[in-house]
Amino acid sequence: MAGSPPPFSMDLSGWLLVAPCSANTPQKWRLGVLVLLQILCFQTARSQVSVHVVGEVMARLGSDVELNCSVETMEQISQLTWQKKMSPNNENLLTYREGRDTTYLTPFAMERIRFVGGGKVGNIVIQNMTSGDEGTYICSYSTHPTGTKEQEIDLQILVPPEFYLIPSRVRAVVGDSPKVMARCFAAARPGAYITWDTGRFDHTGSGTVVQHENLTVTTSSDLLMKPQRELYNSKVTCVVTHEKIQYNTTFFISNVEFAPYDVHIEKVQRDDGLLEIYCGLTANPYPHTFNWTWVKGNKTYPMYIPSNYKRVTVPKNTSDGYYVCEVENLYGRASGQFYVAPECPHPYWYVTLIFLIPSLILNACLLYHCLKSRRPTESPGKDVL
Ligand SMILES: *[C@@H]1O[C@H](CO)[C@@H](O)[C@H](O)[C@H]1NC(C)=O
Ligand SMILES: *[C@@H]1O[C@H](CO)[C@@H](O)[C@H](O)[C@H]1NC(C)=O
Ligand SMILES: *[C@@H]1O[C@H](CO)[C@@H](O)[C@H](O)[C@H]1NC(C)=O
Ligand SMILES: *[C@@H]1O[C@H](CO)[C@@H](O)[C@H](O)[C@H]1NC(C)=O
Ligand SMILES: *[C@@H]1O[C@H](CO)[C@@H](O)[C@H](O)[C@H]1NC(C)=O
Ligand SMILES: *[C@@H]1O[C@H](CO)[C@@H](O)[C@H](O)[C@H]1NC(C)=O
Ligand SMILES: *[C@@H]1O[C@H](CO)[C@@H](O)[C@H](O)[C@H]1NC(C)=O
Repeated sequence: MAGSPPPFSMDLSGWLLVAPCSANTPQKWRLGVLVLLQILCFQTARSQVSVHVVGEVMARLGSDVELNCSVETMEQISQLTWQKKMSPNNENLLTYREGRDTTYLTPFAMERIRFVGGGKVGNIVIQNMTSGDEGTYICSYSTHPTGTKEQEIDLQILVPPEFYLIPSRVRAVVGDSPKVMARCFAAARPGAYITWDTGRFDHTGSGTVVQHENLTVTTSSDLLMKPQRELYNSKVTCVVTHEKIQYNTTFFISNVEFAPYDVHIEKVQRDDGLLEIYCGLTANPYPHTFNWTWVKGNKTYPMYIPSNYKRVTVPKNTSDGYYVCEVENLYGRASGQFYVAPECPHPYWYVTLIFLIPSLILNACLLYHCLKSRRPTESPGKDVL
């Protein structure tokens, strides 16, 4: 700023104080102070040109991205030059002088760069971002008398994550050491970060990162968990974090293997009066044979029901006793049972009703007869009311 005091004023006053104090200061000494002053003045002038940029820019593939650059100065601006940082020499992309046409210097600049500045603003737009556009761009202002001042902008491609999850086919038998339950992948630029949400169950994640030629980065993570029965069918979420945005995908664990448990019999009373009994259970792998038996007293009788039937119908005239469903897989066996009480030989309520109704009628008649014979002259109803 022109109006603000030069930042070196403190140092200067110090020198000026020192100089007059020494009475026999040689001329050479005074000259040195002058030269120093001149250097300081020059420094102050230089700091009066400043170039401002947004140093890091991310843009999606195929989008148009604006690279912002502006200059703050009272000096005369002679030229703005945009370059791309290259090795060994930077590539000049375009130059701009106030009042003249912008000069585009490479095919890339001619086809896809547009100068959108003017005055002290030197912004450019790169159209239809491609992966080759990534890199460092230099915005350089030439002013008189300072010379050239420049700033760099890192342009990076932003590829939103594409992610997917593959459930593991590894057999995770209950009691085993931790096994892989799933693997989650996320391809993005910059690379995404993968975490897992497994609710109340412990887990560890083990990841890898692969950089592709097209600059995208594939991050993958294996979900490792100690196999336990309760994990079967429990929900697990792969959380992908990319540029402060979270994405997720969920699945249900299916590779935990264990012996059958919670074998129980559910009954369904059908409309036609038949009873259906159904063998319910949890197991992985699911058993494909169901061994139905009938137990009465101390004896077990096989029921001649096909072994793949997990639902059977019990006939009306069925015998009482326990109906047992036994299942087995390669890790063990378990059974569940259901008791059928002995069937009543008669529907008792019906029989009771047949005897009860005539007896009620008989009682009512007797009572009426009694009342009538005790008070024959009175008109019925008055006393009652
Ligand atoms: C660049 O400048 C334009 C307008 O001059 C503005 O809309 C945009 O937000 C700026 N971009 C950044 C990254 O600051
Ligand atoms: C953007 O670039 C791609 C590949 O370089 C091209 O296929 C597409 O047509 C371009 N789109 C526009 C709007 O120029
Ligand atoms: C980048 O390359 C990888 C591997 O070749 C591919 O899976 C991915 O789809 C590519 N991404 C883009 C944006 O081209
Ligand atoms: C997953 O995303 C949904 C919305 O898409 C959100 O409601 C949920 O909380 C997220 N879950 C986790 C574990 O981040
Ligand atoms: C089925 O039950 C019968 C009688 O208890 C038994 O002999 C047989 O081994 C059982 N079979 C299976 C596969 O459990
Ligand atoms: C069942 O067997 C036990 C001994 O194994 C015996 O005490 C009991 O009387 C038997 N019950 C019937 C109904 O046979
Ligand atoms: C039940 O009735 C069917 C015919 O309705 C008969 O075949 C079967 O033997 C009977 N079973 C018993 C235990 O009485």
